[in-house]
Amino acid sequence: MEDSSTRLCFGHDGHDASWKQWIEALAVSKNGTLDRMLLNLLQQDELFRWHAVALNVVGYAVALVLILWLSWKFYYTPFVWKRDLTDIGYNHVLDNEGIGRNDKKRAHTINRLRRLRRVGQRIPPPYPNGWYGVLESEALAVGQAKSVDCLGQNFVVFRSETGEVNVLDAYCPHLGANLGVGGVVRGDCIECPFHHWSFSGRDGQCTNIPYMKSGSIPKTAKLKKWKSLEANGFIFVWHHVDDSVEPWEMKIVPEVEDGQWVYYGRNEFLVNAHIQDIPENGADVAHLSAVHGPNCMSGSDLRTYRPAWAEFGMHAWNASWFAPEESDPPHIARMDLKHSFKFFKKFEFCTVDVKAYQIGPGYVQLMMQTGLGPMVALQTVTPVEPLVQKVIHRFYAPRNLGNAFFQKFAIWAESVMFERDMMIWNHKQFIDSPLLIKEDRLIKSYRKWYSQFYSENSTSYTLAKENLDW
Ligand code: FES
Ligand SMILES: [Fe+2]
Repeated sequence: MEDSSTRLCFGHDGHDASWKQWIEALAVSKNGTLDRMLLNLLQQDELFRWHAVALNVVGYAVALVLILWLSWKFYYTPFVWKRDLTDIGYNHVLDNEGIGRNDKKRAHTINRLRRLRRVGQRIPPPYPNGWYGVLESEALAVGQAKSVDCLGQNFVVFRSETGEVNVLDAYCPHLGANLGVGGVVRGDCIECPFHHWSFSGRDGQCTNIPYMKSGSIPKTAKLKKWKSLEANGFIFVWHHVDDSVEPWEMKIVPEVEDGQWVYYGRNEFLVNAHIQDIPENGADVAHLSAVHGPNCMSGSDLRTYRPAWAEFGMHAWNASWFAPEESDPPHIARMDLKHSFKFFKKFEFCTVDVKAYQIGPGYVQLMMQTGLGPMVALQTVTPVEPLVQKVIHRFYAPRNLGNAFFQKFAIWAESVMFERDMMIWNHKQFIDSPLLIKEDRLIKSYRKWYSQFYSENSTSYTLAKENLDW
């Protein structure tokens, strides 16, 4: 008989005989004990081999499912970035005092810093006239009511059962409950949580008092109805100190409005500054290379955002700001901006052409052309306190794989850049007559243009503050 162990070694790899042949050969061997042992070993070995194959298959399948799930998540999940008042700009003191993120002293220290700030003199009215974003459309489902506090007002914003958005004063004229806190939408009305009086979303009139047995509903049982509209992913409220002034028409972005472009994400910030300071950034062209020139990879902290290692790449900006022409709507100003990323001060890439439309005091549409196609960022700035602004950007672009990567990177980079501004805004003074040089002249033009949003009767900064102090 041939040496079966030698054959076994060769045959194990299946070079010259199949497994079946080996097993058959061994079964007819004269040395029964050895044959049985070998047969056993072979069967165990084969079992082991199939186990290994099965484990491999399961491993690959799990990895594949994981990769597909992560790609799907990455492709379809919007990128969200959120910072509140305590997140940006206070680390120079918090670090010195050894106060960490979860330290109880954190909020107290930041509030102390906010109180110590000399905010400036002759501060303009904090709530200029215009359309303001009060909620994002997706934040209000059919039949849902929310309370929104901004512009020195308390609103109840609700979506009727047919999908219409209505904005009313939040406080019930009966005994003062807030309809945004526990109010229930019924048809196109909202029912107060306290005694179930109902108010129509169409005009704010009370339509039902469930326990009234006699008489009729008083005419004065009425809530103020605010003009509102829904466009480009936001719910806007018209806020004007003079009720007789008709609102201007909202500028629609068709690609967003009709759903051709995809929503890629958003960021949200609470900024400690006067509203006028935020869009002034567009006309302040000199700050662009100072604040936004250093590489975005080096982060947003102005104390550390210019490290030597990041100098291999810098952002280059070229900007101009334009007041509207005579034939243009007076409430829309424009900024043209060109961005590129310069590698070793020579090689330019990632060029972006931006046309930004500043629409009224608190809304900007940034239409961008990038190497990967068009995109838009929609910004709302809404005063929630005289010197606290809620700023939201929402980003849209056509759906494709390149965009899924690029958009998320762009939202991150924009968030970093915005935080650099925020660190300045959170601590700056408002200067009514700034010391401007010739090269700063666009700031002057901007302030002149912006002044149209204040009326003689606009609530002053001092009064607005008093209204909130109680
Ligand atoms: S307080 Fe609203 S029904 Fe009484
Ligand atoms: Fe800026």
